[in-house]
Amino acid sequence: MKIGLLGCGVVGKEVRTILDKKEELELVRILVKEESEIDDTRMTLSYEEILQDEDINLIIECMGGLEPAYTYVKEALEHHKHVVTSNKKMLATYFMDLYEIACKNQVSLRYEACVAGGIPWIHEMNRVQRIDKIHSFYGIMNGTTNYILTKVAEGLSFEEALSQAQQNGFAEQDSTDDIDGYDARYKGVLTALTSFQTYIPIEEVPVYGIRSLSFEDQTYALNHDGIIKLLVQGVQEENEISLSVIPTLVSKDSILSKITNETNAVFMTSDTLKESGYIGKGAGGEPTAHAVVQDVLSSPTLFQKDIQEGRNHLSRTSSFYLRFSTMDHNCPFVKEVLSETTILTKPMTLKELYEYTKVNDIAFVMEVTQ
Ligand code: HSE
Repeated sequence: MKIGLLGCGVVGKEVRTILDKKEELELVRILVKEESEIDDTRMTLSYEEILQDEDINLIIECMGGLEPAYTYVKEALEHHKHVVTSNKKMLATYFMDLYEIACKNQVSLRYEACVAGGIPWIHEMNRVQRIDKIHSFYGIMNGTTNYILTKVAEGLSFEEALSQAQQNGFAEQDSTDDIDGYDARYKGVLTALTSFQTYIPIEEVPVYGIRSLSFEDQTYALNHDGIIKLLVQGVQEENEISLSVIPTLVSKDSILSKITNETNAVFMTSDTLKESGYIGKGAGGEPTAHAVVQDVLSSPTLFQKDIQEGRNHLSRTSSFYLRFSTMDHNCPFVKEVLSETTILTKPMTLKELYEYTKVNDIAFVMEVTQ
């Protein structure tokens, strides 16, 4: 198989290293952005050269960002080339469009590396569905926020923990994507479409990050024998799906509480396998490149399913700790007033939460499962 690689950064570089060790996979062209990046005779600044090369039958996209990645992937599929991407933001945003083109042109579009890095999560969900229906999933899918939450619980400042995550190379270029939960939301959208065959537009998924995490929030968690984790959760009930990204108070005795630093953990429930999951490297060049090359090896096999759109009714019910920037003294969901700015809600649906938080000034949201 002849391969073109787009992008030679943290992940792309490691993809090159792995591919160069595998004789049956021939990496023939590598697209880079700047002249100064060229350190290999296969490198080019021209995508057109790769696109028009009819010998190349697979494109790996490791550029990141929406553009030009989206246009390049779209053109590759239109030119009947298989595509493997590690770009969760681009794919979660444009999935339906790209998927239709891939189906029409009878080529595969694979994305294992987009969710939980090196963990074979997408593969495993597809494999489980050969026998079972998947009913729910949950997990820690963002290494940067898990690293920050771990370090802050150990006493480090938020800024110092973020800076360490950036130095370690697993934070996004724009840390907003990590801290505000958007990166985890892209991964949730891709997990939901794989497990529930349903594409849910990104903005329909409630997302609450950890940007404004305070000492008061942590003290609440500590006093309730818990620990805060940023969880992606998806539940499928009859014809409804609830998908969310919310900091969640988990018990100190749970497996999730033991998942520290940048480690990811993902779990699903299904008919006969019941609960199953993986713990592993959710970020970093080598684990993510491993997932990319696994997809390359699977690519000649077509992967096609019927993906629907919509069905996100957010009817899952839970209770939440809310810390207001400006207290709403008429909040209709109050179960208990905890302080001048914090309350515990009665059980409410995710839909009610999402709508309420859009029109109220809330600094921190935490799901309380205990
Ligand atoms: N910024 C992401 C994380 C990288 O921290 O998990 C892997 O997707």
